Order: sequence, then structure tokens, then C-alpha cells
Amino acid sequence: MKVLGIETSCDETGVAIYDEKQGLIANQLYTQISLHADYGGVVPELASRDHIRKTAPLIQAALAEANLSAQDIDGVAYTCGPGLAGALLVGSMIARSLAYAWNVPALGVHHMEGHLLAPMLEERVPAFPFLALLVSGGHTQLIRVNGVGDYQLLGESIDDAAGEAFDKTAKLLGLDYPGGAALSRLAEKGNPDRFVFPRPMTDRPGLDFSFSGLKTFAANTVAQHPQQDEQTRCDIAYAFQAAVVDTLAIKCQRALHDTGLKRLVIAGGVSANKQLRQRLGELMTKLGGEVFYPAPQFCTDNGAMIAYAGFLRLKAGEQTGLAVEVRLRWRMSELAKIS
Ligand code: KG4
Ligand code: ZN
Repeated sequence: MKVLGIETSCDETGVAIYDEKQGLIANQLYTQISLHADYGGVVPELASRDHIRKTAPLIQAALAEANLSAQDIDGVAYTCGPGLAGALLVGSMIARSLAYAWNVPALGVHHMEGHLLAPMLEERVPAFPFLALLVSGGHTQLIRVNGVGDYQLLGESIDDAAGEAFDKTAKLLGLDYPGGAALSRLAEKGNPDRFVFPRPMTDRPGLDFSFSGLKTFAANTVAQHPQQDEQTRCDIAYAFQAAVVDTLAIKCQRALHDTGLKRLVIAGGVSANKQLRQRLGELMTKLGGEVFYPAPQFCTDNGAMIAYAGFLRLKAGEQTGLAVEVRLRWRMSELAKIS
């Protein structure tokens, strides 16, 4: 079975083909980052218009990359939520129409399930059950994963997502959107002893997160140093990143302790962060467990994770009807279990 996957939920157009026997056989990505950079964030209308321009050519490129023609595709998977409504509608409409024309099943995929399953595209895959830390621009969640579609939410951010806090703090430091990766590069030159930021909600029980106070703390620190010399920017970046990484690690350790799980999966854009990977790697070594990540190009949005999640569900016989519906708010616990 060969599945075409289409991701258009935000500012990346991703198209990929997953083959049951050979794995990932095509992966095309176009990022709109430069389009939105002048506005300091994603402009939904511009995002939709750009997906319209890019999706069909990327599908053609993916078919060429895999040396396939349209007749070889057995199903079409597309992100139908959560995300920006217009952007989701573009990918969903194109995917649904192609599936109709090609007379193959279509499947609307949950974007965060795509992220969650992205580590399965690697050679070393985690066995179920495991704990997943999903850290993206829109979500921060700790989930007990018993199997595909069997998700128990243990904790989540009550305000900003980790990636959102990275991006807002990066903006305060004068970095372009999305500034998470650039902030972590600044942090490499930071002095660890200059500033100490709080570790929000770690002093009380529970597995929820809150990152908006950290961003305010960063804003106040920036305001106290109006010159913003290079070293100060690096020091603030360091302190901010250390606080986020520490907070995530403390909550992961707590969730692993509570659940007795020994495997940890980290996915979503922020899982590309080197400090986070190092810190959680050390934690799992200390606990005698294992940690799994997607390859860096599959941490941020991509079509491969949608093709793969779609393949699993199409293979299990699931499919989405002809009416195109996008789901802006959609909890992963509502997804069907796959045995
Ligand atoms: O998963 P993703 O591509 O999109 C959403 O589903 O939201 O995540 C994007 C987020 C952005 O906030 C971006 O700044 C952050 O991931 N990000 C990083 C790094 N790379 C991407 N944050 C910290 N360190 C990184 N290396
Ligand atoms: Zn994403």
C-alpha cells in the first residue's frame, strides 16, 4: 500500500509518500518562513494562498521522486486539524479531490498524531506503551501512549505552548519568526551564571505546564537591560532555554515515575532542541530507560508524518467521507484505537 500524505496546517507545505514495504519513498517540503518573517508571525491569509500555489507542484515532485504515477497511489492522507482553518482547507480540498478522482480512500489525519508517530519513521522505534512529550508551536502535552490511537492525556500547557514561548522570547531578543532555533544558537554563547529564570509549576503536584510567565520574566529582564549588548542577549537566551528545558525534564521525570513507563518519545518542533535532547537523554540514562526522537527534519512540520499516520489508519480500514471538514479543535483522546 502506498499513501500520499499532505500537510498544510500552518506555514509549511509538506508532501510525502509512504510505502508499506519500503517505508518513506518521497518527501517534499516547502517552508513559508520568509513569507511571514516581515510580519513577525504567520499571517493566515498569506499562508492559505501560498499553500494553494505550492501543493500541486509538490505532489508532482513527490511522485517523480518516488518514480510513481498517480495510478500507483492507494490512499491519500491529509492534515484536517488542528491548525489554521484556511490553510487546512487548502490541503484537505486538494487531497480529498485527488482521492475522489483517483478512486482511492482519503483520510483526515490529526496533526499532533502525525508528530507523535514521527519517531516510528526511524530505524530504532519505540515499543508501546511509552510516555510522549509533544512540544510544538501550538501544543505542549504529556501523553501516555498505549498503542496507535490509544492516548491518555496526562498534562498540558494551561497557556502558551513551549514553542510559542521560545518564539515570543526570541522576538524580544530581536530574532526573526520563528525564533526557537535561533534563540538556542544564541544560548550556546550564554553565561550560565548571569540570570536565573523560574521553573513554572514545578513546585506543586501535577503534570500541567505554564510558559506565559516565563515569557513575561524574559520581557522584564530585557527591559532592565535596554542596551541589549550581544552578551546580554546570549545570557538571556541561555537562562530562558535552561528554564524551559529544566521544566520539561522535571515534568517528564514525574510522569515516568507516576506511570512506571521506561520509554520516552519526544516529538514536535521543539524536540529538535539540542539542550532538550541532551537533558532528556541524561535523564533516561539515569533512570535506566530509553529516549526516542524523530530525525531533525521530521521534528518540525512535514508531510512524512502525515503519510505515515494516514497509512496506519487507512491500512486499518478507516477512511473519511466526501464532505471536507477541518477540525480546528480536536483532542487526540477522541481518535479511534487501532489494534
Ligand atoms: O511542530 P512545529 O513545526 O509546528 C507546530 O505544530 O506548531 O513546531 C514549530 C515550533 C516553533 O515554535 C519553533 O520555534 C520551534 O518549534 N522550534 C524550536 C527549535 N526548532 C523549532 N524551538 C527550540 N529549539 C529548536 N531547535
Ligand atoms: Zn506541527
